[in-house]
Amino acid sequence: MNITPFDAPLGAKVSGLDLSLTLDEHSFSDLYAAWLEHSVLVIPDQSLTELALVEFSQRLGQLELPPASETRARGDGGASLPEIWTISNVKVDGVAIGGLGNFEADWHTDMSYLETPPIASVLYAREIPEVGANTSFADMYAALDSMPAGLRQRLSDIRVQHDSAYTSVGTLRDGATKVGDASEAVGAIHPAVRTHPETNRQALYMGRRLNASIQNMPMEQSEGLLDEIWSFCTQRQFVYEHVWQIGDLVMWDNRCTIHRRDAFDSEQRRIMWRTQVNAR
Ligand code: OGA
Ligand code: MN
Repeated sequence: MNITPFDAPLGAKVSGLDLSLTLDEHSFSDLYAAWLEHSVLVIPDQSLTELALVEFSQRLGQLELPPASETRARGDGGASLPEIWTISNVKVDGVAIGGLGNFEADWHTDMSYLETPPIASVLYAREIPEVGANTSFADMYAALDSMPAGLRQRLSDIRVQHDSAYTSVGTLRDGATKVGDASEAVGAIHPAVRTHPETNRQALYMGRRLNASIQNMPMEQSEGLLDEIWSFCTQRQFVYEHVWQIGDLVMWDNRCTIHRRDAFDSEQRRIMWRTQVNAR
């Protein structure tokens, strides 16, 4: 196995690995250590069955099942195992086979509105458009480390109210109620700075911008500070942008990264299989 860090603050490419075969304990622990070190791993040229993807993902932790809304239509390239989330714009009889459509997904970390958010997400490319739909990752250790002292000081004790109503592409989740402004958001509250339980490094943990607010701070002041933090932590210098190839498997650490996705042409097909991993 070869680990080649990208020319970016986070992310590395892993070659010499075939995830359709069961990794021995030694290789798995090398891979896991590289993942903790680089936060995002890209493992290209994989040819995986649904079961192989599930079995590999389960070694990272317990899998979170997709909500019913993500599995309304199966078939036409959508996954059929219950552990796999399909991320796709493809429709069968007018019903999407998966989530997120062809829309832009704004910067976020997955499901930060839960009390115990998932630690990892794994995305495996089955079909991709000719152009577009790149996925970018930003390093929340680096963002925190390089923050100007004044700003760093202002967020040392703050806690953020997260919003559970909207997806990363801004659509209302099934069963959720519309949120008029951030004061109406329903979701978990997390400190803005958290210590990663495995690396023991401090990372910025902001979730997403939409309908977020800082606890015990007047709304106007909260909006201003959140805008400042978000425009700082999403700067190019903290980002690795992934251009997909079919067969790429990308696994990211939700505790210390955020990600976004570009929109793409609705006439093109994109089908990704995804798993979401909870702490063991
Ligand atoms: C996700 C996500 C981005 C993409 O699956 O959580 O944000 O590139 N996906 O589809
Ligand atoms: Mn996401």
